[in-house]
Amino acid sequence: MEAFQPAFKLADLPTGAMRAVTLGGREVVVCHTREGVFALDNICTHAEARLCEGRLRATRLVCPLHGASFDVRDGRVLGPPATVSQPTHPVRIVDGTVEVALRR
Ligand code: FES
Repeated sequence: MEAFQPAFKLADLPTGAMRAVTLGGREVVVCHTREGVFALDNICTHAEARLCEGRLRATRLVCPLHGASFDVRDGRVLGPPATVSQPTHPVRIVDGTVEVALRR
């Protein structure tokens, strides 16, 4: 795992919203839920869609292209057609800044 990298201020991302960032050349989507802040790879494991363009409902993230859904807390598939979990990355909040540590 790589070191934590600053992404943006948590105050800029309301609860229920998500935002894409590129860290170390990798696209990540950061989701602010009532249960916390979670980061996943932004490109869907099913095809080439960007999850940040989908919908976030509580902790369920729905892909905009074919409608697969993932649990943002651990990346597991909640609904088809995806069959492969979405990779997740550890998140921490330091002095109000969201930091993400990319998994390899
Ligand atoms: S690209 Fe995400 S469900 Fe097909």
